[in-house]
Amino acid sequence: MRSFTILAAFFAAASAAPSVSPRDDGLFTPASPGGIEDVVVTQENTINGTYHSAETQVIQSSDIATRAISAALPLKFVNNASNGQVYAYVTGLDSDNKVVFIKGDGTLVYPSSGGSGAPVALTQYVSIALPGQGSTFQLTLPIIVTSGRIYFAEGKLSFFMVRTGTGGDGVVQPSPTNLKDPSSGTNWGFVEFTYTTDKVLYANISYVDFVGMILSMSLTVKNGATQTTRGLGAGSVSKICSGLADQGNSDKFPWSKMCIANSAGQPLRALAPNTYDSINPADFQNYWSGYVDQVWTSFSQNPLTIDTQSPAGKVQCKVSGTQLTCAGDNRGYNKPSAHDIWGCNSGPFERQSADNDIHVAVIPRLCAAFVRSTLLAAGGNNQPGPESSYYKTNPTHHYSRLVHQFEVDGKGYAFPYDDVNLDGHNAAGVVSSGSPDTWSIFIGAPPP
Ligand SMILES: *[C@@H]1O[C@H](CO)[C@@H](O)[C@H](O)[C@H]1NC(C)=O
Ligand SMILES: *[C@@H]1O[C@H](CO)[C@@H](O)[C@H](O)[C@H]1NC(C)=O
Ligand SMILES: *[C@@H]1O[C@H](CO)[C@@H](O)[C@H](O)[C@H]1NC(C)=O
Repeated sequence: MRSFTILAAFFAAASAAPSVSPRDDGLFTPASPGGIEDVVVTQENTINGTYHSAETQVIQSSDIATRAISAALPLKFVNNASNGQVYAYVTGLDSDNKVVFIKGDGTLVYPSSGGSGAPVALTQYVSIALPGQGSTFQLTLPIIVTSGRIYFAEGKLSFFMVRTGTGGDGVVQPSPTNLKDPSSGTNWGFVEFTYTTDKVLYANISYVDFVGMILSMSLTVKNGATQTTRGLGAGSVSKICSGLADQGNSDKFPWSKMCIANSAGQPLRALAPNTYDSINPADFQNYWSGYVDQVWTSFSQNPLTIDTQSPAGKVQCKVSGTQLTCAGDNRGYNKPSAHDIWGCNSGPFERQSADNDIHVAVIPRLCAAFVRSTLLAAGGNNQPGPESSYYKTNPTHHYSRLVHQFEVDGKGYAFPYDDVNLDGHNAAGVVSSGSPDTWSIFIGAPPP
C-alpha cells in the first residue's frame, strides 16, 4: 500500500497545473556572496593555462597575429533578458594554452596571477556590456580558443587568477557549488566552446551541473543548414524551482533546496542533484535505497536484457549474490548509492581501463535506467525503454524530469547519459561545424 500512496501523491502533484511564479517558501537555499577570501579553488571551477608573465598583458587587435593563431569567427549575442544590464565574458585558452579574455572590440587580455598561490582579482575590465533587451551585440572572435566559455550575467561577475601546482596560471571562475562565491548572488550561465586550429567550432549547452541564465544557440553554416539548440524556454528556472518545491511538498525530500535564491528570494539557478550532493550529501543519501533493493530482488528472479546498441547486441543480466552480472561482461555491478545514480560515474558506474566493450556499453544504459526509473515499469526488463516510460514513478530524478518538461526542443543534457535513447533522439545541446558562418547566442529566451 505504501507504494500506491506514493504513486497517487506523485500523479496528483504531476497533474496539477505548474505554478510558474517564483516562490520562496523559505525552501530555497539562499546565496550568500562573500569576498575574495571566500573563493574556493577546485578542479571544477578552474581552467589552468601556461604561464606568460608576472603582469597582465593587453594585446590590441592589430598585434594579435604576433601573439596567437588568429581567426575571424563572427559572433552575435542576442539579448532578450529583462532584468537590467547584461554582461558577457569570452574566455578560454589560446593556441599557446594561455588563459585569455576577449573584449568586445577584439582586444585580448592575458591576466596574470603574478605568481600568487592565493586567488587574485582580475584588474583589467574584461566584461562586455550588452545593449538592452531586444538588441544584438556583434563581435568577431579573433583567435582560436580551446576550453572556451562565454559567460552571461545580469550584473558583473568576479574572476580570479591563481598560480597552479605546475607553475602555470589558472583562471578561477564563478562556482555554482560555493554559496559564498562572490558571484553567487548574480544570475549567470555559460555556453562552452572550442574553436580549433582547423577552424572547427564545437559549442555546447548543458544542464548536467545546473540550470542558470537561460541561453540558446544557433549556428549558420557556409553552404549548409542552420543548426539550432533552443534548450530551456524563458523563465524556466522559476518553473523548475516551482516543480521542485511541489515535489518536496509531496515526497518530503528537500528538492527545493537545490534552488539557489538571491536576497529577494528569487531563484537564480537550480542545481542538479549531483551538484547539490556535493553541498549537502546527507539530504538524499537514502533516497534510492528502497528502489535499488526492489530492482535487485526483481532481477534475481527474472533476467534483465540490456541492448548495448553496439555490435555486441543484447546481453542478459541477472543478480546473483550481491552483484548484477551481464553475459560477456568482464565484471559485475554492485548496488548503486544515491551519489552513484546522480553522478553516473562512481561505484558500479565507474569505468576502469580494463573494462570490455560490453561493460562500457552497460554503464550508461544501466545508470540511465535508474535515473529515469524505468527498471520496474511494465517492459522494464528490456533496456533502454521507450521515452514514454521515463520519470513515471517515484523515486526518480525529478530535476531531469523537470528540465525535460521545460525544454523547448528536447536539447540539452540533464544528466551525463541523457544520450541513451531507444529511438536515436538526439538530446545533445550542441552545434558544430567545420565551416561555421555566424554563431549566435540568445540570452534570456530562445529564438522563435
Ligand atoms: C588548477 O590549479 C589549481 C591550483 O593548483 C588546482 O587546485 C585545480 O584543481 C586545477 N584545475 C584543474 C582543472 O586541473
Ligand atoms: C523575447 O522573448 C519573448 C518571450 O519571452 C518573445 O516573445 C520575444 O519575441 C523575444 N524577442 C526577441 C527579440 O527575441
Ligand atoms: C556537452 O557538455 C557536457 C557537460 O560539460 C558534456 O558532458 C558533454 O559530453 C558535452 N557534449 C558534447 C557533445 O560535447
